[in-house]
Amino acid sequence: MKIKSVIVASMMMPAVAMAWPWSTDMMNQPNIKPQEGAMLDFPERSIPIAGMPTQIADREASRNIKNPVQATAESVNTGRTLFKIYCAACHGQTGAAESPVSSKIGAIALNDDYVQDSLTEGWLWGTITFGSYVMPAYGVPQGKRGSNDLTVEERWHVVNYMKHGLVKDAAAATKTAAK
Ligand code: HEC
Repeated sequence: MKIKSVIVASMMMPAVAMAWPWSTDMMNQPNIKPQEGAMLDFPERSIPIAGMPTQIADREASRNIKNPVQATAESVNTGRTLFKIYCAACHGQTGAAESPVSSKIGAIALNDDYVQDSLTEGWLWGTITFGSYVMPAYGVPQGKRGSNDLTVEERWHVVNYMKHGLVKDAAAATKTAAK
């Protein structure tokens, strides 16, 4: 009678029940678990299928590359968000060089003819990717100032914003400020 109640009591306590030698747990099989062991290197010459080519030597080489991302409203909106996170500190919230540090470090306005008309989309992408003279890089972890915070596609979204949203935003902000 006593033994029976011990068994019944243990069966009601899962921790004890699982510790019985005949308990089997499906988890414990001779296989490789997620995150276990060293990750295998990608085979040589493999290409990320959802990616875009990034083998560009420098900013000069990006001058004439074609923007593969259509400037849809969605892309421009994503670019605006990224711009406010990564670029506004120096170039201003609307890119009109209205940030307190713009003039101190020479972060130029991006809504003028120089950027809007003379610089190609490829050059803008290259500037974000490789940085400029003072400006840091966002596509290559180059030297101390570099980072690869923005993916290839994200950089194109920022380009789309610079060419298709920034001027409007800057103009709207000036109007609001003038009121
Ligand atoms: C730390 C400050 C800083 C940040 C952050 C920054 N920039 Fe700049 N940027 C500059 C400065 C300074 C210049 C002008 C001097 C130079 O070319 O380095 C410049 C120049 C530029 C130019 C003109 C390049 C040319 O050919 O004359 C573009 C376009 C530009 N920035 C876009 C961006 C974008 C887009 C971002 C965000 C992804 C960004 N910048 C983030 C400081 C910054």
